[in-house]
Parts: sequence; structure tokens; C-alpha cells
Amino acid sequence: MEKILVLDFGGQYNQLIARRVREAGVYAEIIPYSKITVDEIIKEKYSGIIFTGGPNSVYDETSPHFDSAILDAGIPLLGICYGCQLIGFMAGGEIRSAGTVSEYGKTSLRVKDNPLFKGLPEESVCWMSHTDYISSAPAGFEITAITNNCPCAALADDSRKLYGVQFHPEVTHTEYGGVIIRNFINGICKCKCGWTMDDFVRSSVEKYKKSLAGKKVLCALSGGVDSSVAAVLLHKAIGDNLICVFVDHGFLRKDEGDLVERVMKEEMGLNLIRVNAQDRFLEKLAGVTEPEKKRKIIGEEFIRVFEDVAKDIGKVDVLVQGTIYPDVIESGKGDASVIKSHHNVGGLPDVIEFEEIVEPLRDLFKDEVRAAGRELGIPENLVSRQPFPGPGLAIRILGEVTKEKLDILRDADAVFREEIAAAGLKEIPSQYFAVLTDSRTVGVMGDAGTYGYTVALRAVSTDDFMTADWSRIPYDVLAKASNRITNEVRTIGRVVYDITAKPPATVEWE
Ligand code: XMP
Repeated sequence: MEKILVLDFGGQYNQLIARRVREAGVYAEIIPYSKITVDEIIKEKYSGIIFTGGPNSVYDETSPHFDSAILDAGIPLLGICYGCQLIGFMAGGEIRSAGTVSEYGKTSLRVKDNPLFKGLPEESVCWMSHTDYISSAPAGFEITAITNNCPCAALADDSRKLYGVQFHPEVTHTEYGGVIIRNFINGICKCKCGWTMDDFVRSSVEKYKKSLAGKKVLCALSGGVDSSVAAVLLHKAIGDNLICVFVDHGFLRKDEGDLVERVMKEEMGLNLIRVNAQDRFLEKLAGVTEPEKKRKIIGEEFIRVFEDVAKDIGKVDVLVQGTIYPDVIESGKGDASVIKSHHNVGGLPDVIEFEEIVEPLRDLFKDEVRAAGRELGIPENLVSRQPFPGPGLAIRILGEVTKEKLDILRDADAVFREEIAAAGLKEIPSQYFAVLTDSRTVGVMGDAGTYGYTVALRAVSTDDFMTADWSRIPYDVLAKASNRITNEVRTIGRVVYDITAKPPATVEWE
């Protein structure tokens, strides 16, 4: 299989580079610069290498370097930002600090005729973020682009297929970034660019078939998209040697636990143990109203339940985790192997005896995970589900969590989701749900007075969930949802819509 190595020097856009390569149709693998040698790179038969950016200056004592033998390994190489300076430095050029004229942001780029810039106009916009620059190109290299403040915005040694760009072609602000990356992998590395998610799935299945043959493997299914995709992928590879444990804590949405069990067990054929632990969790939460305490209790109880199951399962060889790339970033980036600190798997390594952790989705973004799920045949209603917090509805019920309140919230939430689905909105909110407040308000129904719960509807639009805006759902859709909720969910007397952005509010109410 054609593949490109993204050699990680600690830059912030590394995964974006890999993603752009995959979008262009070649599989990309990110490996920290310290974890691979030139010989290993040659053995792996990469079609090309991309050196990423990094926060350092090549002259810092602690800055990351690489064996300069890579320049003569006969593998096409593209350096980006720090990666570009590193190539310049390794090849004998000179790097300088731009001092007060360092460039950040959109900059006008002027390019010369060169294979990397095929199809680019002479002048276009690129995105710069650097203090150092190459002040003198090494022997054998030609300067192929400049900006007003950067006399060497790109350089090339066509004979050795070595290229460097000071700007960032992987970010969307660089007008022709996608063309540059395609020129590199298709024009220079000669990749056929036929890779799809289907190839990822197939090659992962083949890989795990070999590496996990005869091993006992355990996967904690949360019911979410990531762990489901990881489990189905591994099941394709090793069948019933994969044991999946699905702890139903009772805080899932309406019919969700049954859906997960049915799809995973019957449709996907997984060797699945469902643990119905609703009562245990509710008992522990009795009388608890404080949000952080609820989260902590749920996290701990999850581990206790798993501990009990683990006694029956015994020692396993491998623990599977549905870690995806954004989790890796959140927990502190690339280099070391970080385990997702998600409440429902975070504590497991302590209670399960195992030898190895496998994270098959570690390099993928969420939409790529969904695409892999579709390739694996997981039904759309499971694969395209919106994010759902680990502690589930327990943190969408303000005050004490009871079975009665859970049932009320499940019904109201289901109605809201049905109405959003039925509305055929042009832009579906990134996340939308109901919250059961602990306020009761006076109302009237027929001739009788009522004193019902107040439910809040929340819908947000966001790219990354770090910030979010409340969704401008059409009034008619809100009206219909409100009408149905007050009619169909008997104890609810009032519906309000949350119009607070994040910040200052968070997406969840607790
Ligand atoms: P907040 O409320 O922090 O939510 O603005 C941002 C995103 O994270 C989800 N969320 C969680 N996910 N475990 C999770 O797996 C949690 O404890 C948790 N708390 C919040 C939330 O649903 C939103 O998508």
C-alpha cells in the first residue's frame, strides 16, 4: 500500500497534514521523529516523507534534529515550516531569526516554475507562522518562492527530490495548499492516490489479524461512535477473541442501550456482554445534587462494575480503546502514548490485567472515524450520532437523579430529537438535547392548575466544542417541539430554549 510518512517535529498542524494527504488519496502515518530511524523508513517503503513544523529554532540545543542521511535516501521529502528550515540546515544552509519582521498570518506568495508549484499562479495567498527563515540556501538548492518579508519562502533540490516550504500548505488559508500537497504526493512521489477509508479498514483488519492472532482482547463499549467503530473493526480481524463489555449505567437516551446491544450483537455479530447496572448507579447517586460529585460517583461506579465483570473474564492480553486524534491532542500531543482520560475507560487499565493497549483509530478525526464506521457496515443511526457525555443524562438532570426524572427527560429529549430530524434543517446543530431543570412552575391544563417540571432545550453549533454558539432553530420547529413535549410528557409544564453561547456557558448544564 502506498503511504506517506509524516515525521512529527512537534508542530501544531501535524494531524492536519496527514489528513490533507489522506484527502488527496494516500494513506499517511504520523510518527514522532525520535521513534524511527532512516533504515526503518527505507524498510517501510514510504512513497514520500513530510517533515512537519515545530515550535523550535534549529539552533536551539534542545531542538529536534534528524539523521541527515535521510536527504540521500532517495525518498522524496517535503519540509514544512520548521521542517523546511531543518532540511536547509541539514543540507548546509544558513538559518536566521527574522527578528521584528517575523511573519504571522496571510501573506502574498510569489512562486517560480517548479514541480511543487505546478498549476499555481505566480502570486497567491499563503499562511505563514515563523520567526526563523533560511537566509542562505544550501548548495544544490534553488529558492523557488518568496514573500515580501521572506527571501526564501520555498526551496527545492529537484535532482534529489527535496523540497521545503516556509508557509503552511495544510491550512485552508493557504489558497493553493491542497494543490501543493497533491503536487508533492502525486507529481513528485508518483503516488497513484487511490486510497480510501475502505483501504484503511482493510489494511487495519489485516494488520490486527496478524498481530492479535490467538490473543484474548477486551473492549469496553460505551455505546458511542468511537468505541463502536474500534470494536467492529477488531471483530472483523479476530472474531470472538474480542470480548466487548457494554456497561449500561441507565443514563443513556431513550432506547439507546437496546439499540447498541441489538446492532452490535445481532447485526455486527460481536461477542458482547451487556451489564445492566442501572440500579447500582441510581443507588449511589441517591441524594446527590452536586454536579462534580455526580460525575465522580459515576466514573468510580463504572470501574467497580467493570471490576466485577473482569473477575469472570480473567486476564486478557490486549485492551482496546477507541481513542481518536482529538483525544490525543487534548491529553498532550503525539510523542508519548497517551491514554484517553474518558470516564468510561480511563480507570480500566488499573482494574484489568492486560499486556498491551491497542488504539486502532488513534490517527483519525471524528468524521474519518464515522467514514470508517460506514465502511464497516455500522448502521447510519449509530455512526452519525451526535456527541454524548460519558455520564449521560445524569448531568442533564439538575439536582438529584431519580428513575422518574430519567424517564421524563428521556421522553422530552426523544421528542426534541424527532422534531429536529423531521424539520429537514439546512444546518443541523452540532449537538441538541433536553435538560430537566429542578424548577417546577405553575400552569393550567383544561380547567385544572398544574405544577410541572420545566424542561430546557439546548442546541449548539460548533466545530470543536471548545467554543459554541446557540443554534438559530426556526421558531416553528421550537414551537412544535414545545407543544409536543407539554402534551406528550405529562409532568412537564413549561419548555424554555437556552440562548447562551459557550463561553460563558458550557454546552452541558452540569
Ligand atoms: P461542555 O459542557 O464542556 O461540553 O461545554 C463540551 C462537549 O463535551 C461533552 N462532554 C463530555 N463528554 N464525558 C464526555 O465524554 C464527559 O464527562 C463530558 N462532559 C461534557 C459535551 O456533551 C459536549 O459535546
